[in-house]
Amino acid sequence: MARLSGKTALVTGAAAGIGRAVAERFAAEGARVIIADRDAKAAAEVALALGADVARAAVVDISNEDAVKAAFDSLEAEGWSPNVVVANAGVQLFGQDAKIADLDFAVWQRTVDINLTGTFLTLKYAVRAMLKQGGGSIILTGSPTALNGEGADFTEYSSTKAGMHGMARAVAGAYAKDNIRVNVVVPGYTETALVSAIINDPASRASIISRIPLGRAGAPKDVEGIMVFLASDDADFATGATFAVDGGMTTI
Ligand SMILES: NC(=O)c1ccc[n+]([C@@H]2O[C@H](COP(=O)([O-])OP(=O)(O)OC[C@H]3O[C@@H](n4cnc5c(N)ncnc54)[C@H](O)[C@@H]3O)[C@@H](O)[C@H]2O)c1
Repeated sequence: MARLSGKTALVTGAAAGIGRAVAERFAAEGARVIIADRDAKAAAEVALALGADVARAAVVDISNEDAVKAAFDSLEAEGWSPNVVVANAGVQLFGQDAKIADLDFAVWQRTVDINLTGTFLTLKYAVRAMLKQGGGSIILTGSPTALNGEGADFTEYSSTKAGMHGMARAVAGAYAKDNIRVNVVVPGYTETALVSAIINDPASRASIISRIPLGRAGAPKDVEGIMVFLASDDADFATGATFAVDGGMTTI
């Protein structure tokens, strides 16, 4: 049964990894999907494979306010204004992120610009779009590093993710009366290009898997189900909450 028919869902970072899997699953559940990504070629390929009646690409760098505003404006003009937005695009600068005493300001700023400012801009224009439609569902992709010691060696990444978790609660509280729900999904360690530095280092990979009670790495498909639930009307009473699907990494 199509659980998302009637929904138009914009997913940032949908050209790859978790965002791509979620966008493709949303389409399979009956939603129209907007593949929003700064990688124009990959976004176009994902949208093309889904078909023009179901999907379109929006080339956007979420850290640029003019670009985010222009994307939402043109979607509205074309009748594709989203009532579901997944703020998922993000970066983790392996080899540059560090313990705080060793962290370079420019590296810090690059991550803040995308993960935190980019999420702020995505949510700002998502809320504006949803206010015009009488409500909607916003989902942020959070991280275990915002919740426990997983972030010890990744100061900027864990700080921006914790900021996203706090932003979700603030926006959920501010717009609950407007029927806009805001929730955070926390994937566990998920094998995508983002974490290729871990995938390609057997010792690091074994170490992180040893901290996952269910005993395996995550895959993008592992969070599709919770994303569908939160996007759907089944989740009408869920807002301001954090849903970990992380193999137990943060919850046991
Ligand atoms: N992979 C993991 O282990 C893991 C775990 C927890 C949370 N997350 C989070 O999940 C989200 C997706 O991660 P992933 O593993 O799928 O990564 P990924 O690198 O596979 O995909 C990220 C996508 O985001 C896009 N993107 C990056 N910066 C952008 C920008 N400024 N504007 C628009 N698009 C941009 C990239 O082009 C890419 O298509 C991120 O927020 C990440 O922090 C990942």
